[in-house]
Amino acid sequence: MSSNLDTLYRQVIMDHYKNPRNRGLMENGDITVNLNNPTCGDTIQLQMKIENGIVVDSKFVGEGCSISMSSASMMTQAIKGKNLIDAMKLSDIFSGLMQGIEPNDEIDLGDIEALQGVCKFPARIKCATLAWKAMEKALKEQMPEEKTS
Ligand code: FES
Repeated sequence: MSSNLDTLYRQVIMDHYKNPRNRGLMENGDITVNLNNPTCGDTIQLQMKIENGIVVDSKFVGEGCSISMSSASMMTQAIKGKNLIDAMKLSDIFSGLMQGIEPNDEIDLGDIEALQGVCKFPARIKCATLAWKAMEKALKEQMPEEKTS
């Protein structure tokens, strides 16, 4: 990765960390999931509101490093307006990204792309995936068995 791109990605991550999107509590959420990162004890609480199979709102609160909190900010931003299957697919793509798998060119990851360098730092992967694991857990509670397998 060029150092310019590296710098840009770092700026995007810090912007989400310092100005988190969708941080806060929701009064009328349909699902609430709490999860922690077992390696450091940092936590996230994710809330989602689902209407007609679409994620209409998603918010989070938590304690964690810049990677985990910026990832939560990006994730909540990215899944809004998506149906549950597409939200789950995005989570699979993100999981691949964390294993160094390049996403299909046709997929526009937006700010999420800034986290792709995390795959080079195995100790931080659990930070980046914390919010996504919380989202998967929440969606699995909402989706019929056969659609999640
Ligand atoms: Fe705890 Fe990153 S160090 S989530």
